[in-house]
Formats: sequence, C-alpha cells, structure tokens
Amino acid sequence: MCGIVGYVGEKNAQDFLISGLKRLEYRGYDSSGIVTLDKNGKTTCLKSKGKIAGLEAKISKNKRSDSIGIGHTRWATHGEPSERNAHPHRSGKIYLVHNGIIENYKVLKTKLEKFHKFTSDTDSEVLTALIDHFYLDGEYPLTNAVVQALKLIHGTYGIAVVSELNPNEIVVARSGSPLVIGIGHGETLIASDASALIGHTRKAIYLNDGEVATITAKSVEIKTLDSQPVSAKVETIKTDLTAIQKGGYDHFLLKEIMEQPTSLTETLRGRIDLNEKTVHLGGPNLSEKELKAIKHVIIVGCGTAYNAGLLASYYIEQFTNDITIEPVMASEYRYRHAHVPDHSVALIVSQSGETADTLACLRDLKSQGVKTIGIVNAIGSTIAREVDGGTYIHVGPEISVASTKAFTSQAVAMIMFGLTIAEAKGIKNSFIAPYVDDIAKLPNEIDNLLQSLQETIKTLAEQYKKYDHAIYLGRDVAYPTALEGALKLKEISYIDANAYPTGELKHGPLALIDDRFFEFILLPEDGLYDKSISGVQEVLARGGHIIVVTDSTDFSLPVENTVFITTKLKLLTPILMNLVSQLFAYYITTAKGLNVDQPRNLAKSVTVE
Ligand code: AGP
Ligand code: GLU
Repeated sequence: MCGIVGYVGEKNAQDFLISGLKRLEYRGYDSSGIVTLDKNGKTTCLKSKGKIAGLEAKISKNKRSDSIGIGHTRWATHGEPSERNAHPHRSGKIYLVHNGIIENYKVLKTKLEKFHKFTSDTDSEVLTALIDHFYLDGEYPLTNAVVQALKLIHGTYGIAVVSELNPNEIVVARSGSPLVIGIGHGETLIASDASALIGHTRKAIYLNDGEVATITAKSVEIKTLDSQPVSAKVETIKTDLTAIQKGGYDHFLLKEIMEQPTSLTETLRGRIDLNEKTVHLGGPNLSEKELKAIKHVIIVGCGTAYNAGLLASYYIEQFTNDITIEPVMASEYRYRHAHVPDHSVALIVSQSGETADTLACLRDLKSQGVKTIGIVNAIGSTIAREVDGGTYIHVGPEISVASTKAFTSQAVAMIMFGLTIAEAKGIKNSFIAPYVDDIAKLPNEIDNLLQSLQETIKTLAEQYKKYDHAIYLGRDVAYPTALEGALKLKEISYIDANAYPTGELKHGPLALIDDRFFEFILLPEDGLYDKSISGVQEVLARGGHIIVVTDSTDFSLPVENTVFITTKLKLLTPILMNLVSQLFAYYITTAKGLNVDQPRNLAKSVTVE
C-alpha cells in the first residue's frame, strides 16, 4: 500500500528519494523515512510521522551528498503510525523498507528475539532481522540472505534492502506488491509505482512475483527465488510529467473530476463506429464463437471498481436474454465457495491493477479455467499482466485516493464489453444503436454538466456540510450510482453516508429519517420514475432534508433542493448524475477544510488483504 523508492548512481540520493516519495505519498501517508549511505557505508537514517513534508524538513537540516539510498512512505498495517514504526528498519548492518504484510511474523519474531532487539511493532522489522540472521555480518552475499529469508515468509512484500558493508548495491524483491526498476544513465532507480520515475528515465523493468534483483548504478541482475536467472524485459514508461501534476487545480480530485470529458474520450478512442453503430473492443481477445457462447459474466472488483461493475451489470443484462451477470466484491468472493458455471468469463476491474483481493480472485478464477478479462487503468500493472485479455481504460494516472474518472470509464468500458457480446449473439443493431449513440455523446454531456453545474453544487455543498449523516437513494441503474455517491462522500468528507435502493426504504432505512440526516435522491426519468417519486414522497412526508438530482422537467415536489440536469442522453443518464455526486463530495470536503486527496486511514492502492 505504501510507496518504496531507491537510488544508486552518481547524483544526490536524498533529492530523488524525497521527490519520489512525494509522488508516491498518495499511496500511504502516515509516516515516512529514508536511509542513505556514503562511500564508506556510513548511514544517515531520517524518519518522520505524518506527511512527507515533515521528512523533507528533517532532510533539509541533514543534507548529505550520498549517492545511494532507499525510502518509504507507510500505510500502517502492524503497529500504530509513529516514528518508531516508520521504515526503514534496521538490523545489524542492514536496512529494509517493506510494502505488504508478513503473515507469519509472530512465529518468526519469537525465534528472532534471541538475536535481535526489536524496536518497532511492525511485521517488517521481523523480515529485516531474518535477513540479517542469514547475512552473518556480510559473510554471506546480501542477495542470498534476502532469498533465504523470503523462502520462510508467508504474505506479501515489495522490499528494498541495503547494507553498510556494500554501499553500491540495493537488493529488491517482490511478491504481491509492485516494484519497478528504472534504468538511467549511470544510475538505477527503484519505485513501487512508475510515476516516481517520470522525468528521470523512461526505461523500466517491472519485477514479477517471486523475483529478486541485485541492483548497482550500472547493472540489474534478476533471479527467481530458486536462483534461476531471469532475462528482464525493458519497457517504456509513456506517462508524461503533466499527467501527474495538479495542472492549476487546487486538488488532484477536482482535476480528475474535471478531466473526465477527455479521459472518457481516451477510453472510447478507436472503439466506437458511429456509422455502423457498433463497438470494437479488441483487447478481450475473444473470438466471435467464444463471445456467442458466453452465458455468465462475473464482474470482480473492490470499492468504486465494484460499484462500476454493479452499474454495468444493470445495463449488460438488458442487452441479451441468455446471460447472467454476477457482480462480486473481491474481498468476499475470494473466500466463497462459488460455483462457476460453464461458459463463464470474468471481468477483473481495477484502476491500480494491484488490488490484493481482486488479484487473488483473478488467480483463483484463472486456475479454474475461467477466461479473465481486465478492465484496468495502470499500464503494466500486475492484474493487467496476468489477465488473459483486457481493455485498458486509458484515463491516465489517478492520484487522488477517491476514484472518479476511473469509475466513469470502467462503467462505460464494461457496457461496451456487454454490447460486444450482444453484437456477437446477433442482437438487432436497432437495439444496440441507441446505447452506442449515448456512449458517443457522453464526453460532451459530461463537459456540459461540469461547466453548467459546478457553481450550483458548490453552493449546495455549503448548505449540507453541517450534517453528520446522509442517505443516498436510487432505483435500477441509479442504485449503484447512489452507492458510488455515498462511497465518495464518506471517504473524503467523513460524513456517514449509506446508499439504499429507493424501493427498500420501507424495509428499514425509513426509520432513520430525522433532522440528523439529509437525503440525496437520484431520479432519472426512466421506466421506474413514477415508482421512485413515491420514494421521494415517503421521505418528504417524514420531514426529510432532500436533494433530488433529476433530468425530468416534470419534477415539482417541494423538496429542499433540486439539481436539474439538461441532457440529450436517453439511457446513460445515471452515469452523468454520478458527476453531481462527485462534485458534491468534493465541495463538502473542501468546505469542511479536510484533506481532499489523502483522506485519513486510506491509501490509493490496496496491495494488502
Ligand atoms: C475509491 O474511491 C476507493 N478509494 C476504493 O474503493 C477503490 O476503488 C478500491 O480500493 C479499488 O481500487 P482499484 O480500482 O485500484 O482496484
Ligand atoms: N506491514 C508494514 C507495516 O505496517 C508495511 C505497511 C505498508 O505497506 O506500508 O509497517
């Protein structure tokens, strides 16, 4: 979940480490630390609780010209966020930074206590001590000591290790947590996310699970844990610096909300034929025969990715009458004993492409022979590399912890996958065409909405920031949209927000309605409009503080606030409405003066269970 960086070369290591950590801060931000080594192996280890700015201040008072070092920004799993639990951890002559969880740390710790005095509560220090145990003060090569230790570990890790005895070398390894090695001129850089390398090098090697690399300024030697040499593939990082900067916005979240007209255009590029009214998704790599045979689609994701899957499932099941769609939360599905019927395919949905629960489901489904298709954003990520085929959503880096532009594009990409199946199954073009038209219109519609409603929503947010509780309501496709709106609000504004299908109100949630709550009701003018109106009435009758978002010009109930959407869309209006929820969550959070891009307790990429 955290960020790892490392540098070995001729330049100042502290400079790269701090700039890299700042880029990765969105991945974990409860403490950070670096260690650098001078030519004689003398170390400078600096750590700080909280944001990277604290570490930066410490570094400015302890400037070194060392040209090798490793750094870490933590998302605590074992032990409170504090300076003593911050990485790097030390044992004897070695220092380690770790991303992930050592599941069997307790047993190992009991054994190692005889040799090492533990100074933190982390599982990571146990791994440090274990490597040190095999290192025997340098009698054994560091890489071999790392390999021996990793063979005894259960859990997930991305690690970087340095030794005072060899200030020219960094050893890195991964299993379940990403690690990228950047190849520069006379320097080698490491990072848990390629975004830290942008501006330094475009050449990168993505380490695979079970690989260990010994890195110097001019060499990278990769082996498996069984000592088999690996010939690494050097790939090109295509992302530009501008894509990971705020570009004039106060926060990444607002930038990412506002760039959806263009990010969605990137998702659609080359995939829609407006003359034929068809979609072309090449990535899934399924023949017409395979598409025709599909009877069951499992959609796997977590959080926003799951919500996007649930939303797409409402559409896909409209397209044909012989497919069952099963959207599942990866954290649950991985431990279920679910029966996967014949002719199933699985859509594996993940912005980061690194989410541990989603990855576990992917591996499990693959081992059962199910064809897996990625709906992924991060190019070269683990999920993208392990799926059988896939569609990149191409929305560019999403930095803010709250996912926005990825949601919109994931939902649309999955709807397009559904249309691809429908086309293959011979569904009439006259049925498919209106969906294709709506998809093509969506970027422009999103642009209009963002331009016309931003100020209205900002004002609305001011009015509702005082509440501690919110209920989001919607029916049919508007229900997953409500779920996503509530997730957005709770994760950044800390308002307790929950979503219910409007029709479920009377089965329980109606009991909640009082002055502590406001209700955010999504009301698209669809086949269930009149029934949804009854839901609004039920809340109104109980004195609810209601905001209605609707595209219906008929709506006239005396609710507190109505956000009217003007749109030419016929079928995809709920996707548009979600933009209102995104802006609303953003403006409430800024109005409350909270940290929009890095909400408490969360991290962008959830590489632990
Ligand atoms: C979204 O706002 C969340 N922070 C979170 O739910 C996220 O969508 C989830 O962790 C899945 O991430 P992924 O798409 O990178 O797999
Ligand atoms: N499990 C380790 C810890 O709690 C690493 C957490 C992380 O990935 O940041 O320190």
